[in-house]
Amino acid sequence: MQPTRSSISSVVRVEPRALAAALLLSLVTLAGCGRGVTLTSAAPSEAPAIPAREAASFPDGWRFPAGQLQAAVAPSAMITSDNGIASEAGLEILRRGGNAVDAAVATGFALAVTYPEAGNLGGGGYMVIRMADGRAAALDYREIAPMAATRDMYLDASGKLTDRSVVGHLASGVPGAVAGMAAALEKYGTMRLDEVLAPAIRLAEEGFLVDSVLHRSIRADSALIAKFAGASLFLPGGRPLAVGSRLVQPALARTLRLIASEGSQAFYTGWPADSLAAEMKRGGGIITREDMARYKAEWRDPVRTTYRGYSLISMPPSSSGGVTIAETLNILEPFGDLPRFGTAQYTMLLAAAYQRAFVDRNEKLADPAFAQVPTAELTSKAYGARLQKTITPGRWTPTPEIARTMREGMETTNYNVVDSRGNAVATTTTINSLYGSGAYIPGVGIFMNNEMDDFAAQPGQPNQFGLVQGEANAVQPGKRMLSAMSPTIVLDPADQLLLVVGSRGGPRIITSTSQIILNVIANRMTLADAFSAPRIHHQALPDVLIHERGGLPADVSAALQAMGLSLQVGSDGLPNGIMRTASGLHGVTDPRGNSSRGARGF
Ligand code: GLY
Repeated sequence: MQPTRSSISSVVRVEPRALAAALLLSLVTLAGCGRGVTLTSAAPSEAPAIPAREAASFPDGWRFPAGQLQAAVAPSAMITSDNGIASEAGLEILRRGGNAVDAAVATGFALAVTYPEAGNLGGGGYMVIRMADGRAAALDYREIAPMAATRDMYLDASGKLTDRSVVGHLASGVPGAVAGMAAALEKYGTMRLDEVLAPAIRLAEEGFLVDSVLHRSIRADSALIAKFAGASLFLPGGRPLAVGSRLVQPALARTLRLIASEGSQAFYTGWPADSLAAEMKRGGGIITREDMARYKAEWRDPVRTTYRGYSLISMPPSSSGGVTIAETLNILEPFGDLPRFGTAQYTMLLAAAYQRAFVDRNEKLADPAFAQVPTAELTSKAYGARLQKTITPGRWTPTPEIARTMREGMETTNYNVVDSRGNAVATTTTINSLYGSGAYIPGVGIFMNNEMDDFAAQPGQPNQFGLVQGEANAVQPGKRMLSAMSPTIVLDPADQLLLVVGSRGGPRIITSTSQIILNVIANRMTLADAFSAPRIHHQALPDVLIHERGGLPADVSAALQAMGLSLQVGSDGLPNGIMRTASGLHGVTDPRGNSSRGARGF
């Protein structure tokens, strides 16, 4: 049902001064740029149980000072994604009475049109759903290895790792995005596939104006794109599409129209599958028509855990995201109140928890259809407490020592939706690197993923993210490669929706998503400050603490080095999230990086 003004005001108490702002926001939102207007206070019974706010304190000179970033605020519904046009597509579906799942699927298909660096039909992803009636589900539409894949397919004759798991046709797994989005819609949506596809079809057929974000993104990856067939569309005359030019994608529009009229199966068994298989053969890839026909998305039980009375619902294997976040939080929980945010003591404990959780992630997690994955043990409080005891505050233990005592893609995109009924969806999807493997299927109008690099192409050797993974995640035909994607929904202690969050950034997906959660729950930051705060990353190997430039004051760096940590400056993930607060739904896209601020609400 379309939420009318009266149905909105029946659940939200609108203060007189806020009413004018509400009307203003409606106008602004209809004009397509609904950001940053605070509307109303929610009724007290609706206010989520979140701890009292404390003013966040970030290092002097930090580029995103506390209190500066403004969340988009709306009373009823909110979408966050890395692309404003795609968020608008989802909002259009919500306005037409769709629920959060309808809107998430519309946003996902629109991202495939407007955000070619990571939105996709040629990749895969994960969706975590929590309906207002309490039902929760996790959908795995990760790519799978083609049936002709072999363990050593990325090694050369002398046994050395090549770049073929990263660039070109051989790097692609069988794409799951279309099957996944259709499965989500069928089980939890209320609208037809052709209805939710309508905005994406329109954007592909009529085109949209290239903005500076898209222009810069194409320019940055022009060498990769130029190698393959996508060059004619994205690099006309050899140059990146100009800002202000209109990008029309007829082949993609035709593919979307086929899916809308004949269903997702047509993508896997009809002419798109033929086209894809033919291009794979031409370009030295191994995905066949049979690989396409056998692809299936899988419904899974979400990972559930708690942290200090808050409940988390997240993604289980084949993603490592939910398990690694749960394990990290379970290691931290026995410490009780954490040291103050940003201190050396806080940073060291966080890094030590990540280090332990990533040792398990890299060694034990894989596609559960192929490996015995100890999810229950790794996410148990008892296991977290055992690992917590291995941490000596103030003294770093090197990863090999940790691993011994325990022995026994980067460029992804996340989007979240909360609808006026309180249904929530967190989705992360990827073609792995920006523009995937670079391979473009001209007849279908899509870039293909290079997700095969998320396997341990050579167990024990680092992949493009420097992740050193084990035998459980070796290449095998029909297997899903391990992911870090971590779409997560957090409930407050009264089991009410609090936070919907996820990220891009390869292994940094796990650390950035969990730091947003910690910043809200443990560090008591507003959502905007939780995103602005400097973040750290540790993935066990290499045994270095990666921190953002300007994110660690000199005295904190010196103290961490004195504890035995090696430090390195690096970039971080790109999360976005929605939080239910006493002043309505707050939506934030990360202030870092190449995102076009896709927080939209009404
Ligand atoms: N390709 C990034 C990930 O799945 O974690």
